[in-house]
Parts: sequence; C-alpha cells; structure tokens
Amino acid sequence: MQIKNIFDKMDYGEAPESAREAQNWLKNHNYTFGNFINGKWKQCEDHFNTVNPANDQVLAKIGQSSPSDIDSAVKAARAAQKKWSKESDHARARILYAIARLLQKNSRLFSVLETLDNGKPIRESRDIDIPLAQRHFYYHAGMAQLMQAELPKRSPIGVCGQIIPWNFPLLMLSWKIAPAIAMGNAVVLKPAEYTSLTALLFAEICTSAGVPNGLINIVTGDGKVGEMLVGHKDINKIAFTGSTEVGKLIRERTAGSGKSLTLELGGKSPFVVFDDADLDSAVEGVVDAIWFNQGQVCCAGSRLLVHEAISEKFYNKLRNRMKNLRLGSPLDKSIDMGAIVDKKQHKKISGMVSQTKGKVFQAGSPLPQEGCFFPPTLITDLHTADPLMQEEIFGPVLVSTTFRTPSEAIELSNNTTFGLAASVWSENINLCLELAPKIKAGVIWINGTNMFDAAAGFGGVKQSGFGREGGWEGLLAYSKPKNQFSPKIKSRLVKNQISKADYIDRTAKLYIGGKQCRPDSGYSQSIFDHNGKPVTQVPLSNRKDIRNAVEAMNSAKNWSHSTAHLRAQILYYMAENLSARRAEFANTLQALTGRSDAETEVEQSIQRLFFYAAWSDKFDGSARSVPLKAVALVMKEAIGNCGVLCDNQYPLLGFISVMAPLFATGNRSIIIPSETFSPIVTDFYQILDTSDVPPGTINILTGKHADLAIELAGHMDIESVWSFSPSDVSRDIEKASISNLKRTWVNNGCGRDWNSEEGFGREFLENATENKTIWIPYGE
Ligand code: NAI
Repeated sequence: MQIKNIFDKMDYGEAPESAREAQNWLKNHNYTFGNFINGKWKQCEDHFNTVNPANDQVLAKIGQSSPSDIDSAVKAARAAQKKWSKESDHARARILYAIARLLQKNSRLFSVLETLDNGKPIRESRDIDIPLAQRHFYYHAGMAQLMQAELPKRSPIGVCGQIIPWNFPLLMLSWKIAPAIAMGNAVVLKPAEYTSLTALLFAEICTSAGVPNGLINIVTGDGKVGEMLVGHKDINKIAFTGSTEVGKLIRERTAGSGKSLTLELGGKSPFVVFDDADLDSAVEGVVDAIWFNQGQVCCAGSRLLVHEAISEKFYNKLRNRMKNLRLGSPLDKSIDMGAIVDKKQHKKISGMVSQTKGKVFQAGSPLPQEGCFFPPTLITDLHTADPLMQEEIFGPVLVSTTFRTPSEAIELSNNTTFGLAASVWSENINLCLELAPKIKAGVIWINGTNMFDAAAGFGGVKQSGFGREGGWEGLLAYSKPKNQFSPKIKSRLVKNQISKADYIDRTAKLYIGGKQCRPDSGYSQSIFDHNGKPVTQVPLSNRKDIRNAVEAMNSAKNWSHSTAHLRAQILYYMAENLSARRAEFANTLQALTGRSDAETEVEQSIQRLFFYAAWSDKFDGSARSVPLKAVALVMKEAIGNCGVLCDNQYPLLGFISVMAPLFATGNRSIIIPSETFSPIVTDFYQILDTSDVPPGTINILTGKHADLAIELAGHMDIESVWSFSPSDVSRDIEKASISNLKRTWVNNGCGRDWNSEEGFGREFLENATENKTIWIPYGE
C-alpha cells in the first residue's frame, strides 16, 4: 500500500474522555443539589433536572431557589462583605490565588463536568474554558494585591448580584467573581438553569480555598430567580451576561434604584475577509469564529463579509472545509462540534434557518442518532436587512454577503444594532488598522478571532451592552470613587444679598451646529436672580430642537477622529477667551446667583479648561501583556453623541466640568445648562464662536430638565446621557435609555461639589470614553 493511500483512507478513531470522576462527584451529592449560602449547602424545596444535551440523560436535580433563599444569600453576603472589605490587599489576594490553584488542580473534573452539562467538546472546555477561568483568578489575585497602591481613590461597591448564561458557565462565573472579590465585594451568583453544575463544584472549591463564609454564594434556578436578585433591595450592583432582551428588562427594573449595572449582551459580529487575505487561514478563522462552541458565543463571527472579487473562491474553500467538520460525542477528544445546549435553543435555531430565503449549505456531516445536534450551516445571497443578517441566531449558522470597497466593508460591519466584536482579515496590516477604529465594537481581532485574556477588557457598545470584563477597565465595574457624591445637595445660593452688578438682559437663543437659533416651540422661560427678580428669558427647547442638535452632532462625526492635540488647543483657546472676559462673566454670575465668590468660580472654570486640555493628549490607552503571540491594544475611544444635564450649584463651573471632558475625548455633545442660571452658559456661546470650536461638536439647549431628560434618553442616535440635574430625572433617564441601551451616568438625587475633587478627574474621562481592545497577533 502506498503512503498516499494510507493518508487517503485514514480516519479518526474514537478518543473518549472518561466521565467516571464527574459521575462519582454527582453520585456523592446524591444527584441532588441545593444552594451554597454562607459557606454551607442549603437544600431547596423545589428542583428541576439538568440534562446532558448530547444524550438527553438526566445528570442531576438542581434547586429552584425561593425568595427566602435569595434573602438569606444576600444577608450572608452583606455580613461577609463588611469584614472582607477591611481585609488587607494581601489577604484578599491569597484567597484568589488559592482558588486559581484549586481550579488548576481539579481542571479535568471541571472540564468533563462542563462538557457533560453543556454539550461543548471536551477539547474546548479542557483547552480554553477552564484554563481561561484559572487565568482570571490568577490575574485578579494580582489586582487585589495592588488595589491600595494603584487604585487608592476607589472602594468596593458592596454586594453584587451576578447572573450568567449557559454558553461558558465556569468562564463567565470567573469573569464575574474574580474582579468582584478582588475589589472587596461579596457576591450572590446565579448560574444559568441549563448549566449549574460547574458553579456548584466551584462552591466546593471555595470551601477548600478558605473563602470566608458568605463571601461567595451560589443560588440556582431559572429566570424568576434572576428577577429576584435584580429586584432585591440590599444588592448594590447587578452584573448580567445573556440575551439583549433580558438585559433591557434588567435595565428597566433597576432604573432609579441606584444599583450599579453592567450588561454583556448579544452580538452579530462581522468577519471581514479582504481579497489579499491569506484565504486558508481565514477559512480556519471562520471555523473558529462560528463553529466554536456550536456558535453559541456572544462574540461569534456570525456575519461573514467577503470581498466580492474572491467571494466564490472563498465560499468554495469554506464549503470544502465544512465537509470535514466532525460532530459527535462531546467527550470524544477528536470531534470538532458537540451538542446544542438544549432542545429549546435547537428549536430556535432550526426555526430561524427553516424560514430563510437565502441559499443554505449544510455539509451533510453525519449527525449522532440521539442528542441535540445541529449541522454547521452557511447561508449566502442574503440582503443586508434580512432578519438573519440582523438577529442573533446563537447557533452554528453563518450568514454572508459581499462588499467591494473598504468603506463599504466598514458600513456593512456597522449596519447592526449590536457592537460586540469584529474580525478583519487582510495581509495588509495598514488596511486592518484603518478599519479597527472605524468599526463600532468593543473588541477587534486582526487576522484572528476569539482571542481572550484576563488582562484585556471584553465587552460591547451599542445594544451589546456596557461595561468591560478583564483588565484595569474591568475593575471600574466593581469599584467606585471613594468620594463619589455628596449625600445631599447643599444649596450655595445666597438670598437677599445685595449684588454689586445688575444683569444686563440679552436675547438668548439655542446653540446648534455652531449657530445661534430660535427654539422650535417659540416659548421662553423666565430667569430670576437670587432675589427672585426676573432678569431675562431663555428659550424652552423641545424634541425638535434635540433632533436638530443630533443632526448637527452627526455632521460632526469626524471630530471623534481629530487629533488630541487639536482638541487640547481648542480647550486652551476657550480658556484664553474666558480669561480675557473674566470680569464680565464674574459680574453676570454674581448678579444671577448673588454670591460673592463669582470671581473664584470663573477662575476655577478657566483652570478646569486647562485641566482637560492637559488630559486631552494624555488620557491614553495601553498595550497589555497577554500570554499569546499577540499584542492587545486597549484604546480609549469617544462614545459618540452625548447628552448632559447640568447642576445649578456652580452654573458656570458645573457646565465647563462636563462639557470639557466630553470635548477633550472627541465626543459631540448636547448640553442642557442649569435651569435656574442658564444665561451664564448662553453668554458662553461667544467664547465658543471665537475659539475655533467645530460646528456641531458642542450644542447647548436651554429648557426644562424634566422634559428634555426623557427626550435625550429616548433618542436612538444619542449614545450616552449624564445627569447632574437637581431635578428628579435619574429614574426617567435610566428607564428611557433602554431604547438603544445607551450608557447613563446619573446622580440619583445626590449633589456634587464641583469645587472639590468630586468635580473633575479621571472619573469624567472614563465615563466619556469606551475601551476598545484590538488584538494583533504576530509571528509566522
Ligand atoms: P437569557 O438571557 O434568558 O438567560 C441568561 C441568564 O439570565 C440565565 O441565568 C437566566 O436564568 C437569567 N434570566 C432570564 N430571565 C431573566 C430575568 N427576567 N431577570 C433576570 N435574569 C433572567 O438567555 P436564554 O433564554 O438562556 O437564551 C435566549 C437567547 O439569548 C439565546 O438564544 C441567545 O440568542 C441569547 N443569549 C445570549 C448570550 C450572550 O452571551 N450574548 C448568552 C445566552 C443567551
């Protein structure tokens, strides 16, 4: 026999992984689990089955938590958090380190259990999920150790409710628990109902690692249990990963509660292949992008965009590769694809595919007789607006269309409500790096896909959610500034003081697109000085004015790609022009507010402009040390169109303190000045006019905060809303923000001392930017 014949006929043998240890572990628990609360197992009254989706066999009974279970878990967490937050950094680091070690020592048991419960190939749980979970605990052991030294101004948030999905059960648990406890928080975590087992094994690891009782609580159950956590009064933060639909529900339910929130939601990530890409590598990239974990990956490269010139060649290569993908028992070490997590998910995928009008290719690979398997699928000839091009399928189904030019590739990539990840393939690295900042997503992989590490933040923009997991940026979600808000707004307004100056009435208008214009409504509102004397009128803006201002911001999109040097220069110029008119501004301020420290406020405003001009070209990203042959660049990017409602305590300084950080980081903004003293801001138009501020980058609308807040938060083309308003609008903003899941930063009725450290600094710059992680592999 010739060697060629041997190769031609060679086939895979069976390479099964033993499930004995995992089965023994289940048996030792009598195949029945309760909750892990305050360091102890607590049985539940009701249970449901967890099933192995590869053979439909019941693995164990899982507890369905009741409201009183959740209450006990939160109470235990609250008590533990008080002590934990007082532990030394080193003491916290040692516990995280012990968890990482134990995960490593038990890695096979975790991998096998994960595969049994989820249906993913053992190759993936063994080589990707579990090692990455360990890495998260090691990395965050380091973060705990460094907290005082590197984050001296931040403190823990408190008790965190964490809700995770079924696609990466232990990995998602690690992404959530490691940073939380590193920063001194306690957690109550709910795994997904299909895949609770590794979280329960993790609970045992916690006991062995010496985790204090109550610090980590695991409560099981379905979505109703998730709702109980979300609605619990004594939880300070909710961290959720799952569907966009549930993410929106959670945003709505937590609105106005003061709970901090991070959401890591769905995606429809583009996988862009240029004609000069290494096509064979790109085909392997596609395999990894959409058939890894059966496509049940939030950042799956599920939308293939191929350069038209090579599309047929590429599709042929891909179809041939698909014929070689092997589906089978997930415990077989040499299979490519395992089972879909559950029949319900299988039904959803089949339903979506069966209705398509596109051209469907399925390789016809033999499917196992039993279990929940779906073949790798490629659908071409789809219109960009087709539901399958827009909606998350969350299965092994790749949809595709073609493009002709790089700018069309960018447009198609961004033609989605999601913004989680993107993968760009070309041998021309300059072209890839041209696309990376222009694609709206939290993560960009160049000539690669699905690269993850604890040191590099992961998370989305747009309807893929907000917040990052991993890296320094991930810690922002689990810590808060020590001096965040003054508990109550202290009025600084002085009544019945005799002003030295009179306010000179001017005809204030709105400031939109670099021009002063009249309000659409034709209504005005009277402004009174500190003695209640009417001094002038300012326009009352409405929805139409907001729409006009958004149009102006959209025309100024290039501002986000301007140089940081230019932004700094313009801010310095504003400071220069304000300085030249400081006496006039101080007089107006004093006449309006009656305060004798008006000159100081003007002086501080000039300093604040300098402060953000200084930061403009220094608020940098960084390159992260990742354990791969790759650099992970974390870039600070502008969020886009932002709306802000200002405080009235320092009418000028409060305005400058929000306008300048947004401008310095390349955002376009609509600023609603203090309702009571807006004329000091309408006077500022002349400073903007004479400081080379590009039209549309700063827009100012006067009017009622209560009305404008909802309009800003509900607008689909505004990406972020901040409120420091004394009006009670925080809840309304958070509720209305579900329209496009915009970022919100609201004061929940608390005040801020703009004259102290609360009023400026990194917190503002962080809130004005998104972190984008760009992965660039190197080497042959
Ligand atoms: P899901 O979003 O309903 O479930 C995720 C987690 O949230 C689970 O722990 C679940 O128990 C919990 N949950 C459900 N309803 C809740 C509520 N009202 N309040 C609080 N927690 C709640 O996802 P599901 O039903 O498992 O899958 C449905 C679709 O969601 C999938 O077909 C897929 O498209 C998408 N999905 C996306 C994920 C991602 O990482 N982007 C992960 C899982 C699902």
